[in-house]
Amino acid sequence: MLKILSIVGARPQIIKAAALSRIISLKYKDRIEEVIIHSGQHYDFGMSNVFFDELAIPQPKINLSVGSGSHAEQTAEMLSGIEKCVVAENPDVVVVYGDTNTTLSASLAAAKLKIPLAHIEAGLRSFNKKMPEEINRVISDHCSTFLFAPTITAIQNLHREGFSSENTPPFSVDNPGVFHSGDIMLDNTLYYLNNQISDSKALSEDTYPYCLLTVHRENNTENPERLFNILSAIVKFADTMGRRIKFPVHPRTKSKLDLENPNSRFRFINNHPLIEILEPLSFLETLLVEKYADVIFTDSGGVQKEAYFLSRPTVILRNETEWLEIVNTGTGILVDDDETKILNAGKYFIENPPSSYPSFYGEGKTAEFICNTLLEAFPDKI
Ligand code: UD1
Repeated sequence: MLKILSIVGARPQIIKAAALSRIISLKYKDRIEEVIIHSGQHYDFGMSNVFFDELAIPQPKINLSVGSGSHAEQTAEMLSGIEKCVVAENPDVVVVYGDTNTTLSASLAAAKLKIPLAHIEAGLRSFNKKMPEEINRVISDHCSTFLFAPTITAIQNLHREGFSSENTPPFSVDNPGVFHSGDIMLDNTLYYLNNQISDSKALSEDTYPYCLLTVHRENNTENPERLFNILSAIVKFADTMGRRIKFPVHPRTKSKLDLENPNSRFRFINNHPLIEILEPLSFLETLLVEKYADVIFTDSGGVQKEAYFLSRPTVILRNETEWLEIVNTGTGILVDDDETKILNAGKYFIENPPSSYPSFYGEGKTAEFICNTLLEAFPDKI
């Protein structure tokens, strides 16, 4: 059997890992053994356990319970914890997802132990190294033996950084393989849309029409001015366009909003009749809310993409995006924290809903592609 060690820790990578675990248990259980390690980067029920339950992901063998901290504290603690797990499990491949501090720590641990690393969602670039995620993804890519890139743009980014386009096995960290795998999140979106979501009962009629807001990026939450600009614009948009706003709040954002405090400058969203402040949603709840939102305002990469998969337009609360296709097709607009741009982009999409969302992200068979590629790379394990 090929033994893989999947390392997760933060909400988006738990969701991505679900697609790989599902296909292993459906099609590869006699050829691939998967062990899951959880770093504990996310620990609230709504940020972690809910996804294991809802997406039927096997329980992690170990949870390192690292929790929150400064970047250095969190990364260092995960690095030493993950190193011990990799040594104890001695897998053929370590698998990491996305661009979080968990991804970075696991990548460094595997590369230093000379265990081949597979990076799912390789090659994405915002070209903004002020984002911790950009540093994490560049380092993870350069520690990897198998780079699974979701898009052609991601492949081109890797080639520009010196990764060879030849892909000649045997692969190693010095001769890495770069694969156009498609986007593993599409596997989940299609699977759950087709199998689990029964739209008719899920949202009550009086919910419509509505838009969705998510904001959690360090750049937006750690700067009160930016958070204030974004929320003021959203309130103006809601009032002008008569749209309810569903706003599931990430714990980081919640602590910055500090809405319980009567002196919080964000209190204006508290009792606003059109702003619906929610706890973080589960994956299926998120898909459902995304599916029927007129417009999605977000700074999340994952939400941008799910919006695209579901043919919903996005107003991107950032200055740049790793998902250039979304902007290039005109189905997403970058607005940063600019009040006028946020308002105008939202209004534009209500009045001109895009009609075409060309396919850039594969066909929802990325997890299968990854399993086949890894099995081929280890012929003695078949
Ligand atoms: C992390 C990722 C980000 C990803 C996001 C998804 C990094 C650098 N960033 O950001 O790329 O988009 O996850 O959610 O890894 N907190 C809780 N409960 C939790 C988790 C976090 O209260 O279960 C609070 C803590 O105050 C913590 C803060 O949120 O300090 C930030 O958490 P952290 O994991 O450092 O980063 P995220 O903002 O979640």
